[in-house]
Amino acid sequence: MSNVQTNNYKYGYKDFMINFINKRTVEQEAGFLIPYLRDDIKLLDCGCGPGSITVGFGKYIKNGEIFAIDIEPSQLELTKKLANEEGITNIHLEKADICDLPFKDNTFDIVFSHAFLTHIPNYRKAIQEMKRVLKPGGIIAARDPAFKDVVIYPDTSEIINAWNFRLKMLSSAGADFSIGKKLRSILSEEGFSDVVASGTATIRGNKKELDYYIDFIIGELSESTYITTALANGTITEEEIQEYKNIWTKFRNNPGAFVGIIYCQVIGYKSE
Ligand SMILES: C[S@@+](CC[C@H](N)C(=O)[O-])C[C@H]1O[C@@H](n2cnc3c(N)ncnc32)[C@H](O)[C@@H]1O
Repeated sequence: MSNVQTNNYKYGYKDFMINFINKRTVEQEAGFLIPYLRDDIKLLDCGCGPGSITVGFGKYIKNGEIFAIDIEPSQLELTKKLANEEGITNIHLEKADICDLPFKDNTFDIVFSHAFLTHIPNYRKAIQEMKRVLKPGGIIAARDPAFKDVVIYPDTSEIINAWNFRLKMLSSAGADFSIGKKLRSILSEEGFSDVVASGTATIRGNKKELDYYIDFIIGELSESTYITTALANGTITEEEIQEYKNIWTKFRNNPGAFVGIIYCQVIGYKSE
């Protein structure tokens, strides 16, 4: 196994990010997979992050085994802590790169990822690895946003510009922030069968939801890896960052503001 692991993840691991994603649940973010879960299966969660979804699988897989990988050890520590708090004991955690999984061929009944492939520049290789470790007849399940196709209003040129700045920075290592809508096509091309896509929309259309989301964007503009890197190498100035923050604050204070993002989810089978 290669020891060279490159972490291209652009959000980083500061509190603004962890607090945003650790509210996720199996019911909300992986509800499309619930009908396929069985008590005794072996499931792999790829890029588990702080683990709220991973640990949530414990309610459905009581006699099976839940494996999770992440490239970042601090995320595995958070997942371990949460599993201990929730009393879930059948979770196995490993630091690993998705493009080089430390598992034998044909190991898992289900291989899952959430908000993950969108961050992986070499997502084809990642999906091929996910397929390799799936048992014949096993299920791949992935859910990712279609960020480029955001529904946003008021759609002024300054807000579109601020949105596109995020996308440009987040995808600067080659990640694809439109991958959600392409998942059915990509999985079919990668040889999965009976590939079914569906989706849900995350709508921020009231003060509470907008505050939550715009706080996250402002956190990103303050502390994400992409911002600290861009500041360090001089591709952005503090003044420009402040300008983006002002645009988002003005947007948040508009009583007609609306943001909608489609999360695309897909299920496919590895042929027997
Ligand atoms: C947006 S978080 C998603 C976490 C979790 N799946 C969720 O939805 O709550 C993406 C995670 O992928 C991990 N990651 C990024 N690149 C990776 C890679 N090449 N291999 C494994 N994990 C990776 C990051 O460390 C991060 O924890």
